[in-house]
This record gives sequence, structure tokens and C-alpha cells, in this order.
Amino acid sequence: MTSTFQDGLHAAIIMDGNGRWATARGLPRIAGHRRGAESVRRAVEAAPSLGIGVLTLYAFSEDNWRRPPREVSALMRLLSRYLIDECDRLIANGVRLQAIGRRDRLSAPLVSLLETVERKTAHGKKLLLRIAIDYSSRQAILDAARNLKSVDEDALSQALGPDVDLLIRTSGEQRLSDFLLWECAYAEMIFTPRMWPDFSKADLAAAVEEYHRRDRRFGAVSAAQSA
Ligand code: IPE
Ligand code: IPE
Ligand code: MG
Repeated sequence: MTSTFQDGLHAAIIMDGNGRWATARGLPRIAGHRRGAESVRRAVEAAPSLGIGVLTLYAFSEDNWRRPPREVSALMRLLSRYLIDECDRLIANGVRLQAIGRRDRLSAPLVSLLETVERKTAHGKKLLLRIAIDYSSRQAILDAARNLKSVDEDALSQALGPDVDLLIRTSGEQRLSDFLLWECAYAEMIFTPRMWPDFSKADLAAAVEEYHRRDRRFGAVSAAQSA
């Protein structure tokens, strides 16, 4: 990873509420996912100007396989569509895309698309965009630990990825749902009632502002009180 990414914040978003957004409008849940893809575009475009260097988005959890097959295939189609439609824009905007999560249960065309976009965007230096697909944090921790010769905190952190500074979850739910459990050890958490399809650049900017207002103490005493 380049220092450009590390200079910025690591924001992670649990993009939740697509289904409820659609249901409230008398639309099929899939219409909510479609609108949710537009929110992804907005967030990716806004992130660098808000000081975000790494953006990790929860797109599909390991547990999401439990949804009806029609919804699962619609989500997979939307993911492919996003990758096809956005690849050129990601390159132009200096965004490097990486997928995290299992790949062996994804369709062969989706895996090859992911690999293509990862390769084509590999030189991006403005934003590292990590998309979690078929992802489980517990599984990621187990896999990382199994692959290490000797397990210690630094090695495991290195294997998993950067610590999260700011964790946002939309839709009013206040849980991690197996997302970045290790990496969120000291993350600032922001829960907003906004449904993901309605999440705007202003909402992301407000979350970043709120993050900067917080006093991150990491178990120590804040600077103002330690004198
Ligand atoms: C988030 O929206 C998208 C995914 C989990 C793939 P949901 O589909 O979970 O929407 P709700 O929570 O049912 O409203
Ligand atoms: C978490 O949302 C997964 C994603 C946003 C991709 P869910 O909607 O699946 O989580 P639960 O079931 O409410 O915990
Ligand atoms: Mg949900």
C-alpha cells in the first residue's frame, strides 16, 4: 500500500437499509439495491475530498447467502454492473479497487471481472476502495491466522488490513454483523437512521466532521487532561 492511502482516514461503511427503503415505497427490494449502487458511486467520488484514503464497503456478507436466490442473483448482477460501468471512472479518479472476502463461491465471470478491475486500477493512488463480497470477519481472522507462521498482533493486523478509523452503519441498526471485527478495535462508530439509498455526500461529510470532533484516547488520558 502506498503512503498516500495511509495518510488518509480509513472509513468503513455497512451499507444497510436498501430493502426497507424500497419496501417503504412499495417497490421490490431489488429496486433498493439498484439505488444503493448510486450511493456507492457518490461515496467513492466524495471520499478523497473528505480526507478518506481507504474506503471499505460491505457489499455482501457470508450470511447474505441465506437470502432468497432471486435477491442474491440480483445483488451479484448489480456488482458486476458496477464494476463494468465504473472501471474507467475509477482509473481516471486514481481509485484502486480491491475485493476482500471469499471468491470460490462467486461465479467465474464475476471473479474474472474483479481480477480485471483490480489489475486495471492497480496504479490508483488517491483512494483504496475495498469491497467486501462474501465476507465474514471471523472467517477472515481465522484464515489470516492459519496462514501465519507465528501469530502475533502485528502480523495478524498486517495480514488483515488497516485499522478502521471511522465505521458508519446506515439504516438505524447498531451492530457489526461480522464486519471488520479486529480492525474496528478502536474505530469511532457512527450510526445513522438514513437508509443507504438516501446516503449523500453531505451525510458522509457530516460523519467525517463528527469523527474529527471525537477524542480518540486509545485507553490513555486525553491531551487536555494529562497536563
Ligand atoms: C443492505 O441492505 C444491502 C445488503 C445487505 C446486501 P439490506 O438488503 O440489508 O436492506 P434491509 O436491511 O433489508 O432494509
Ligand atoms: C450487513 O447487513 C451486510 C451488508 C450490509 C452487506 P445485513 O442487513 O445483512 O445485516 P443484519 O442481518 O441486519 O445483521
Ligand atoms: Mg439489512
